[in-house]
Amino acid sequence: MDQKRKNPLKIQDNTLRDGHQSLLATRMRTEDMIPLAEKMDDIGFWAVEVWGGATFDTMHRFLNEDPWERPKILKRYIKKTPFSMLLRGQNLVGYRNYPDDVAKAFVDKACEVGIDIFRIFDALNDLRNFQPCMDRVKANGKKVEASICYSLTERRLGGDVYNLAYFEKKAIELESMGADTICIKDMAGIMSPYDAYAVVTALKKVITVPLHIHTHYTSGMASMTYLKAIEAGVDIVDTCLAPFALRSSQPAVEPLVVTLQGTPRDTGLDLNKLLAAGDLLEEIAPKYKDFLATNRMSVIDTGVLAHQVPGGMISNLVSQLKEMKALHRLAEVHAEIPITRKEAGTVPLVTPTSQIVGVQAVMNVLFGKYKVITNQFRDLVYGLYGQTATPIDPEIRKIVLKKYKRGQTPIEGRPADYLEPELEKAREKIGALARTEEDLLTYAIYPTTGEQFLKQKYGVE
Ligand code: CO
Repeated sequence: MDQKRKNPLKIQDNTLRDGHQSLLATRMRTEDMIPLAEKMDDIGFWAVEVWGGATFDTMHRFLNEDPWERPKILKRYIKKTPFSMLLRGQNLVGYRNYPDDVAKAFVDKACEVGIDIFRIFDALNDLRNFQPCMDRVKANGKKVEASICYSLTERRLGGDVYNLAYFEKKAIELESMGADTICIKDMAGIMSPYDAYAVVTALKKVITVPLHIHTHYTSGMASMTYLKAIEAGVDIVDTCLAPFALRSSQPAVEPLVVTLQGTPRDTGLDLNKLLAAGDLLEEIAPKYKDFLATNRMSVIDTGVLAHQVPGGMISNLVSQLKEMKALHRLAEVHAEIPITRKEAGTVPLVTPTSQIVGVQAVMNVLFGKYKVITNQFRDLVYGLYGQTATPIDPEIRKIVLKKYKRGQTPIEGRPADYLEPELEKAREKIGALARTEEDLLTYAIYPTTGEQFLKQKYGVE
């Protein structure tokens, strides 16, 4: 056996999900993916990410496309490469915890329309929020990629919360729950190269299933981070074709393939095929160019190195402050975010906690500390998203939960255990407008925009 090809790095391509989600507000249409699809299938990726994250929301809300159709259509062209999706645990493809009946029905249907690998994460890394989805994925004979949100207590790995022991413990538990692969999900691009080396080295010692790293180029470190992770023995990384890579997206696949050529981690992927696919995407993509951020010269956001706020959250904050005519207070909001985050239990900043903490930080700056409190922030403090990494300060809790409709004593159990089933109620409410189970799920997850979409889909009113 050729010693030099002993441990090829595997690549998941994220062009058709995180790529356009990160760069083009998730606006790429299915019809524009079709010309690329067969070429992608021919490359030899470990998987292609095609669904989940924000795609479900944007498709039915802005593109007037039935989200359920995309995997079915792409499956006609991508026959060899497994499909992966990003699933927000009990939050599914929405922004709140859904009850178990909705979660289970969603996963069953996602398996049916062609998803093979489910990258499941929970915004609080609360493992209780993985179980119902994980069980259904396994029952359908599909693969679970259990994902741990990468968060930091300090500028670098360490401190008293998000240290090496934290990630080791989560990975060991997720493997024992039945994960087929473990992923470290660095949504903000804050994992630095030597920390990646330390994390991968440590995790490879305590888990036996393959280890996957997901990061974003946002801060400019991602290519270096991958290289150190690869040296430490990471099994799989996420990339995009060059036109949808870099900036706040993933590193590009092409330079990585060449970097590893002739080394023990050689991917074996054909550069010419990748270049041809990239050229084709260059022809398709210009129509989406208006969604690309053009407000700065730099393609990386070096501010992230200091404030660690994920890219999507920054653009939300900017538009929120603009609306309130308070854009000049952005620096104060940046300073407030780590404080609000700590008060909220040192949660990772990822959808939906990034929005919840971000919006509350804005309120705290504009109106005074907890003078105005959002319902979602109350839900978070109450425990409706799960257990936070650190306990919430009792004084803060008292202020936040004062007059809260559910009560003043937070729940401690698994959040979905406190939720009533919703699927049959949704069926009754939407009635004949939902002609399929897929329609029903769209409505159950997104009652307002889902109903609007179904009316358009069937030409009602
Ligand atoms: Co991502």
